[in-house]
Amino acid sequence: MHAGMAFEGGTSRPALFVGAAWAESHESPMIGELEGITFDLGREALPEEVAAWNIDIRPDGQGLPVGSGDVWTGEEVYIENCAMCHGDFGEAVGRWPVLAGGWDTLTHEDPVKTPGSYWPYLSTVWDYVHRAMPYGQAQSLTDDEVYAITAYLLYLNNLVDDDFELSNENFTEVRLPNEDGFFMDDREEGEIPAFSEEPCMENCKDSVEITMRATILDVTPEEEEAEVTEAAAETSDEPATEEAAAEEAPAEEGATEMAAVDPALVEEGEGVFRKCRACHQVGEGAVNRTGPHLNGVLGRTIGGLDDFRYSGVFEEAKAAGEVWGPENLGAYLADPRGAMPGTKMSFAGLRSEDEIAVMIAYLSTFEAQ
Ligand code: HEC
Ligand code: HEC
Repeated sequence: MHAGMAFEGGTSRPALFVGAAWAESHESPMIGELEGITFDLGREALPEEVAAWNIDIRPDGQGLPVGSGDVWTGEEVYIENCAMCHGDFGEAVGRWPVLAGGWDTLTHEDPVKTPGSYWPYLSTVWDYVHRAMPYGQAQSLTDDEVYAITAYLLYLNNLVDDDFELSNENFTEVRLPNEDGFFMDDREEGEIPAFSEEPCMENCKDSVEITMRATILDVTPEEEEAEVTEAAAETSDEPATEEAAAEEAPAEEGATEMAAVDPALVEEGEGVFRKCRACHQVGEGAVNRTGPHLNGVLGRTIGGLDDFRYSGVFEEAKAAGEVWGPENLGAYLADPRGAMPGTKMSFAGLRSEDEIAVMIAYLSTFEAQ
């Protein structure tokens, strides 16, 4: 920004662009309409100057000059002006761009994008060659030469026969194969309405159902040990024996209370069973879900249900003929992964001896059906 001028809209742009930026950031579209500000720069462009810049050719042929050229003429002009870089057949010399082929490569990791394989409209070929080629001598070709080269490029891409002549008359009849690979930005109809809807902020669902709790899912591990990953747990087929046996001891206290099935304990146990219900069913009609049904689990062989797929560690316990009793069940519920390393049960464990005791009391009331 130059000293003394206080335009908004830019600090480091060249002076000429400051005006444009200023105009953009304000309602008024025309610099000339800006009240009280004159730039006193430049002059009106001459029609010739505008014409010299206004050379774009549009897909519908708008902007094309009158003219024509055939494949054979095109080959000659091309060999003379283009082949040293792009190769006689558009195959490219060295690392200059390839102008032919590449069909069926667009879905490859390294697609060959040529006018034949990739470009949507022939107008781009004409425009580009006319505007920018030959490299280093841009805009040195006559319009007819550009028509002829464009015809030759179509021929190299197997899109026309060798007797083809291209002109401003038949130009728009030529369609490039990948035209449909381009489409208009349709987000206005698709995404924008979908994302512009009023979001529902209250009473959005008739009923709310809690299917799982974070603590049960183990997304908030209570202790370091709980971080053993599911994957590790599932693949581990290590025998559990020694470790499991060693850790079964601590739950003894809770287990002993089981003998007398006190209704108060059972009732409490029913409450604690809420932590298990996401995966286990008990009672009439109980079926296997994420976990096996638990009817008659006390006294049942570990991993003993035929129609449930247990983990390796459970299969081993079953093979060894181990049976669920208050002790080993107490240990398992206190620390499933510690007691049965590799178990599929993603449950952090019951926290207190009391909970374990009431749980075992509760489970003991369900007989095998
Ligand atoms: C001195 C080497 C040279 C010559 C001669 C030359 N070109 Fe090129 N051409 C290039 C380079 C370099 C590019 C890439 C330019 C870029 O990406 O900015 C290119 C790009 C092109 C492309 C676009 C390729 C693409 O896929 O992006 C076309 C079409 C093309 N040239 C046609 C021609 C034609 C027709 C002639 C002859 C009239 C010609 N070129 C002469 C070097 C050359
Ligand atoms: C996230 C699901 C899930 C939760 C929560 C869960 N369990 Fe399990 N439970 C399982 C899975 C899976 C198995 C099978 C273990 C294996 O194969 O390693 C299992 C196995 C068992 C077994 C052994 C059954 C048999 O047939 O050998 C018992 C007993 C058990 N769970 C009790 C409980 C109790 C009690 C609770 C609640 C305190 C509980 N589970 C919470 C998934 C769960």
